[in-house]
Amino acid sequence: MKKIISLLLTGVLVTASITGCGSSNAGSGSSGAASPCLSDGVLTVGTNAEFPPFEYVGDNGQPDGFDIGLIKAVGEELGVEIVVENMEFDSLVSSIGSKTDAAIAGMTVTEERQQSVDFSVPYYSAIQHVLVAKDSNIATYDDLVGKTIGCQLGTTGDFIIEEIEGATDQQYNKAVDAVNDLVNGRLDAVIVDSNPAAVFAANYPDKIKDLNGEDFGFEIEEYAIALPKGDAALKEAIDVAITKIKENGTFDKLVDEYM
Ligand code: ARG
Repeated sequence: MKKIISLLLTGVLVTASITGCGSSNAGSGSSGAASPCLSDGVLTVGTNAEFPPFEYVGDNGQPDGFDIGLIKAVGEELGVEIVVENMEFDSLVSSIGSKTDAAIAGMTVTEERQQSVDFSVPYYSAIQHVLVAKDSNIATYDDLVGKTIGCQLGTTGDFIIEEIEGATDQQYNKAVDAVNDLVNGRLDAVIVDSNPAAVFAANYPDKIKDLNGEDFGFEIEEYAIALPKGDAALKEAIDVAITKIKENGTFDKLVDEYM
């Protein structure tokens, strides 16, 4: 009997180390079984610290920002240590289950991403904004036709540009590099989420205009934490934690601190 149990345990451990904690299906259907992602007391969370005020590299060289505060609060609720891994935005989803257990990065829930990951309950609503030069006459969606538009690679802004007729989609690893090229006159516009757009525009008050994507017909987006697909126990634990953080005032404190 002991032997069988230890064989079973070895099996579980091997599965966990090959596939990451997420894909082992623990929790889905099983009666309240804890997520394997939480059992070692550490949750490794990917981010891309190029998206102020949600995430940026702080003065001490470590990722900081609203999302980092939020995931640390989640960690406290769950009684696990949070280890944040800073990486390219475009690698966050594919890293879940191998390098990381989850991702928090102002990440919009999209159907395409839902093919490979699950999402927590949404925690923030946003919309894409259009940054243009102060003297630009771009003001509507049709004005974007045929233009050269910058974005961060793999973001929802990138997906919007792909759909604009005749537009050249200039992808950057960091949105701030697109903004610099806008300021240097190499781009006609940059499409980036509302809050970072405001931060970037504030750095160039006499050079950049920050246009609300509502006027371009863009849709409201919901940010959520990306989680391994099928780890129902982890999703449940994180959803409960987020709900609690919203109810007990911690969320509002983070808004005051970072927004
Ligand atoms: N909300 C957009 C998306 O999900 C952009 C997110 C970019 N986040 C970041 N940390 N760079 O595609």
